[in-house]
Amino acid sequence: MNEEIELPEPFKIKMVEKITLHPREKREELIRKAGYNVFMLKAEDVFIDLLTDSGTSAMSDHQWAGMIETTQAYAGSQSYYSLEKTVKDIFGFKHFIPVHQGRAAENILFSTMVSPGSYVPNNTHFDTTEANVLRNKGTPVNLAVEDAYDSAKISPFKGNMDTEKLEDFIREKTPEKIPLIMTTITNNSVGGQPVSMQNIRETSEIARKYGIPFFIDACRFAENCYFIKKREEGYENKTIKEIAREIFSYADGCTFSGKKEALTNIGGMLCTNSEELYQKFKNLLIVIEGFITYGGLACRELEAMARGLYEAIDENYQAYRHRQIEYLAKLLRDAGVPIVEPPGGHAVYVDAKRFLPHIPPEQFPAQALTVQLYIESGVRAAELGSSCFGKIDEKTGEFIPARMELMRLAIPRRTYTDNHLRYVAECLIRLYKKRERIKGLKRVYAPKLLGHFTARFEPVG
Ligand SMILES: Cc1ncc(COP(=O)(O)O)c(C=O)c1O
Repeated sequence: MNEEIELPEPFKIKMVEKITLHPREKREELIRKAGYNVFMLKAEDVFIDLLTDSGTSAMSDHQWAGMIETTQAYAGSQSYYSLEKTVKDIFGFKHFIPVHQGRAAENILFSTMVSPGSYVPNNTHFDTTEANVLRNKGTPVNLAVEDAYDSAKISPFKGNMDTEKLEDFIREKTPEKIPLIMTTITNNSVGGQPVSMQNIRETSEIARKYGIPFFIDACRFAENCYFIKKREEGYENKTIKEIAREIFSYADGCTFSGKKEALTNIGGMLCTNSEELYQKFKNLLIVIEGFITYGGLACRELEAMARGLYEAIDENYQAYRHRQIEYLAKLLRDAGVPIVEPPGGHAVYVDAKRFLPHIPPEQFPAQALTVQLYIESGVRAAELGSSCFGKIDEKTGEFIPARMELMRLAIPRRTYTDNHLRYVAECLIRLYKKRERIKGLKRVYAPKLLGHFTARFEPVG
């Protein structure tokens, strides 16, 4: 018998942080005061924080050591050059600029490329990507494959772009109206689902055919690479770096939030192969973020990114990461809790439409579930449903709900143990057993762009 024994975490714990669970009555009071919006809670009032995997990773001793060792300089710091070397090695793009986080890269990219009346197709825009296109008076267009919207369907690459729809769309609008095409890996808004190498290649071919630049939102590229290695024929013996290099070889550039897979608390990058775009990005960077060798970051943060990126492409780390997500997914699945299947690379997404079928979209089922989970357990999740992606028709004032009502349980990297996740699952399962008692919410305030961050709600009836 040759049974493989699964390896544990490829690290041990050197420092811990105390967390506190308030009594239920206090949690009820806190969420009421927060306008039934978990973004408005103080972090210290949260027991287990699965709001996001962004900026919440535990950094390694190697990263911390680099932060101390590096020198701080306005121009030409050694950490800028170590990050440049890393970017060339892993991403392979000719030029890059550091920025303070992903949305700053989006701002620079879209302010440079998007003009009023233009369209930006993406498999699915993330909320900040969508908002940055809109701010530049462009129209973000989501063209993910239909499977992406079927939460129960098991399929290996549900994050893919629908390339037929993409080509039809380009022909309909004409290439001149499309300044760039994007693909988001992994596809966060539809459950952190991966995109296949074949799909990235095909999207790139279409972009080239019509002379449109192709950019990747590379926030979770390494998790996507690991999925390709495990699920796509021909990649099983390739390293994550080799897979990443192939992905980026199909693109003209990428945006990147280091807060995810550079395993840092802040940071980001914008990369390109185009000399002309690089000059424009650079000039705007200096106006809004800082000089080209620090871009809105302290040099120690550049160093942490440079080191963290190598840790993210370590196969043992990725194996642990994917196994932990599957651990939480399995506990929920076995108890019948409806989740997006198969689970994504950074989170388990609960399908609130199926969890709370009695709550209509205009009463924000995923938001209601997120609020109840906090009350039940002190666990903070994030709503990715109609509060985040719903729209108000400007002409009619009609509410247009999001296609999916998801509650995301994002797993910060290297931060929580399986035992924390067992607690999350047990509380959510207990909530599922009394789901008919959960009521919807009425939205009483929301700004137009990225309204979900500061929206306020009241319980219905
Ligand atoms: C897919 C995707 N793109 C862009 C961003 C924006 O990155 P940041 O939060 O660093 O601005 C995020 C953040 O969660 C994301 O998930």
